[in-house]
Formats: sequence, C-alpha cells, structure tokens
Amino acid sequence: MAMRRTVEKTAATGFDPDAGDFGVYPAGKKPPASADQSSGQNSEQNMKEFKVAVIPGDGIGPEIIESAVAVTREAARKFDIKLVDASVPAAAQAVDQGLPPLPDHTLKLCRESNAILCGPFGDPRWDNAPPAERPERAKLQLRKIFDLFANLRPVKPVPALLEASPLRRQLIEGVDILIVRELTGGLYFGEPRGYFSDDKGRYGVNTMKYHAWEVERIGKVAFEAALLRRKRVHSADKANALEVMQLWRETVSKVHTEQYKQVDLKHIFIDNCCMQLVSEPLQFDVIVSGNMFGDILSDIGAEITGSLGMLPSASLGAGTPLFEPVHGSAPDIAGQNKANPLAMILTASMMFTHAARRPDIGNAIDAAVARALDKGYRTRDIATGASGEKLVGTREMGEAVLKELS
Ligand code: IPM
Ligand code: MN
Repeated sequence: MAMRRTVEKTAATGFDPDAGDFGVYPAGKKPPASADQSSGQNSEQNMKEFKVAVIPGDGIGPEIIESAVAVTREAARKFDIKLVDASVPAAAQAVDQGLPPLPDHTLKLCRESNAILCGPFGDPRWDNAPPAERPERAKLQLRKIFDLFANLRPVKPVPALLEASPLRRQLIEGVDILIVRELTGGLYFGEPRGYFSDDKGRYGVNTMKYHAWEVERIGKVAFEAALLRRKRVHSADKANALEVMQLWRETVSKVHTEQYKQVDLKHIFIDNCCMQLVSEPLQFDVIVSGNMFGDILSDIGAEITGSLGMLPSASLGAGTPLFEPVHGSAPDIAGQNKANPLAMILTASMMFTHAARRPDIGNAIDAAVARALDKGYRTRDIATGASGEKLVGTREMGEAVLKELS
C-alpha cells in the first residue's frame, strides 16, 4: 500500500467515493424513494447558490456554450435556483490571451464552484505538437486535479432523431445505454510516458496501468448506476491480450461477487463490444471500461443518437464535477453558426441532475430539447432532408430549446 491519491477535494461538492457516495444521481447510499422527476426533495437543501465556472473552450466552444448558458440561466430562473456563473478561459483560448492552457485564476474559480460547464478543447494550430504542449492537456489536468474518475456518457436516442442515425431504426429504437468511462487512469496517465531513443532510434511510450483500487471504484459506480436502471453491466476489457486488463476483469468480478450479486455482469472483449454496440445495441444497459476504450466506445455510441453533436457527459469524482460534451472543437465549422449546440445543452442538463442534484431540472431541459426536435428544428449534422425539418444554425437551435423551456 502506498499511493494515497493527492487530489483536491473541494468543499463545494463533498463527494466521497470511499464513503459510497458515487455522486451519480440518483445513486449512492440513499437512492431516492422514486427517481421522481418533479419532487424537489433531493435538492441540496443548504445550497444557497449554485456556482458554475463556465469554460467556453476552443473552436465551436464559444458558440455552443452561449446557447447552453442561456438555457442554464433560464432553467435557474424558472426553478428558482440562485445561479452564479462566470466565464473563464482555458486551452487555446487562454494561450491566445498569453496565458497557460490552464490559468491559475481559471483553476481557482473551478475550485470555488459547484460545477464546471466546459466546452470542447483542441486547436489545429497544435496539430503536430506533442501531447504535453497541446491545449487539450488542460482538460486532462482538470480531470486529474479534481480526481474526476467517473465519466458518465449516456447514449439514448431522442425519438425524433431515429432516422438521423446511420443505423436502422429497428436496431436503435429503445436504446438506453450508460457508458461509464474510467477517466483518470489507464493509458492516458500511466507512467512511464514520453519520447525516448535506443539503438533502433526514437520511440514513444505510454503505459496502460490500473491499480485494483481504481478498477474497484469505477466498477462500483457502474454497479450502483445499474441498480437504478435495468441491472445489467457489461465490463469491456482486453483480458485476452493484456495483463492490466486481466486484473481489470478479476477486480470487477470481485466487486460483483462481494457486493453486487443482484446485477447481471457480463465481461466482453472491447473489440467485440464495439462490434455489438452497432449490431445489437439494445442488449446493453451499463457498459464500464477503462479510459482509452471508453473514449472510443463513446464515439461509436454517438452514432446511435444520430450525431456526436448529441452526446453529453458528466465527470464526477472527489472535486468539482465537470460537465462537457463528448464531441471535439470542430475547428472546420467554428464561428459559422453551423454547430449543433444540443450536446452542450444536454450537458447543462446533466449538470443540474448531478451537481445541483436536481434531476427535475435536468429532465425539463431534456424535454425542451425533445420538443424542439419534434417541431422539426435541425442543425446540419442531424438533418435528413425529410419534409417538416427546419434547417437552422447554432443560435436558432439554442433559441428553439429556450422557447420550449420557458
Ligand atoms: C473526450 C476527448 C478527450 C479525451 C480529448 C480531447 C483529450 O476525446 O473527452 O472524449 O480523449 O478524453
Ligand atoms: Mn473522445
């Protein structure tokens, strides 16, 4: 034993994975009597104000975050939440202001907030730069600093978009999957890493490493989530080829046998899981996997919803929870009012559900999105050309959701 994690715990969230509070609403030790959509019972009684650090990010980030912040403010007004939001730079946006990718004052505000609402990071000007110098690094730092090990990526197609997916309707109708991605370990953070050289020349190294405690805690998050859903977990690994994944499999099995026998657990190889996610997605409820595999799985899963522009995510752990869309910064369409703001808006919904512990507000936002889509509003990525569709830009889509919410 060594390795106590040195992480920042923020007073703001009081999330303690070791105490069984998985921060996965509704989950943890005190699941609500019902996952009631309208009762305010589960709100944090003593949360006087809900402080949100807004990081617009790069590329399409500023445009989509504008829509998401407008929706967040409207939701707060409507449900009588005292919202305090402030925007701070990170990634390429910060570098362009002569600041480091994660400026001190940005980190300070994140630490003092109840939630971080974060746009996508990444800029083509750094396309050939080593990972340590890239603006995306700021996001990995935020995840690590706040020990946000549990990344929840729900894949649930909105009925109005069933035709927008490249997959056939009968395959995806009714799909409701939660991808639980481990976010602070594995190949992204393992040591040694870097560039080296030997007698054969230059080489690069990354290390896929997991301690059993890391697998245990993400396994618990997956099982707890499954208990409140359809009680099925697929653990996606590569135990047939990698020692680290054999340990992953053993550890998930152990957590299951010791604490979660009532959940149906299946181990599945990651390659097979990717294949089945498109051939038979209805079989899945919760899928848990390591950092790298979860990154890949969630982009595949996005196609079930019609577009990567539809997928939100929540990153939970010891410190301030972070909410970010799954998609990237799409520099090719930045600043052109073309991007789909819905993943960012649905991300704000997850923020109310998990950070403010107000699933009723999250549900209201999701419903407003569904109604805007029912009325035919479509950004380019989710348009099919069917009659009744209204092709709109980022701003108009945001306004359509806002109108449905208010
Ligand atoms: C994601 C992104 C990030 C990741 C990048 C931007 C570092 O692809 O959140 O899925 O790989 O985690
Ligand atoms: Mn990704």
